Amino acid sequence: TVIGVLASGRGSNLQAIVDAIQAGRLAAKIGVVISDNPEANVLKRLAGSDIPAICIDRRQFASRQQFEAAVAEELNIRHVGLVVLAGFMRILSQYFIDRFAGKIMNIHPSLLPAFPGENAQHKALYYGAKIAGCTVHFVDEGMDTGPIILQEAVPVLENDSAETLSERILHAEHILYPRALALYCEGRLTIEGRRVRIIDKE
Ligand code: GRF
Repeated sequence: TVIGVLASGRGSNLQAIVDAIQAGRLAAKIGVVISDNPEANVLKRLAGSDIPAICIDRRQFASRQQFEAAVAEELNIRHVGLVVLAGFMRILSQYFIDRFAGKIMNIHPSLLPAFPGENAQHKALYYGAKIAGCTVHFVDEGMDTGPIILQEAVPVLENDSAETLSERILHAEHILYPRALALYCEGRLTIEGRRVRIIDKE
């Protein structure tokens, strides 16, 4: 499977995916990494690597649909079969989602459906949750609402700050995302309504 990664920032999940491919844990190829933010660290990370990394700046487009059309075209040119959101800070419209129906994944730093949207780790602390975690899900037109593929729980510790909790969750993310991608690439995921079924390995 050719993967196209959309990312806006740090790029640590992208790095985990690159590492998993290199280690032979994920049989996929990254066809392109697209950032909507020219300053994104994720682009710096890839400088000097053989992975094509480009910026498509939202501010250069008159409308969201024109921006998304440019992103979709780039993904199609690279023959991308799975779109992977890794810290991509924009909501995709129905127009884009329809073009890649059932082929867009996201990772979110909470146990969804708790705490969708920004600052999920802060919200977990604010509500006094004792268990936090991360979720990989298929993307629909909502904010962090699509069918759940995999989740991993981590404890919230007595002395946690948003930073220490985020770090513990991020560590779990780096293991979980490549695993979810591997399931997809092995053809082991089916979507039935809101539920994702994982087909056993023979
Ligand atoms: C992660 O916490 C991810 O769950 C959220 O955005 C963050 C991206 O981090 N969607 P990175 O850019 O992959 O380091």
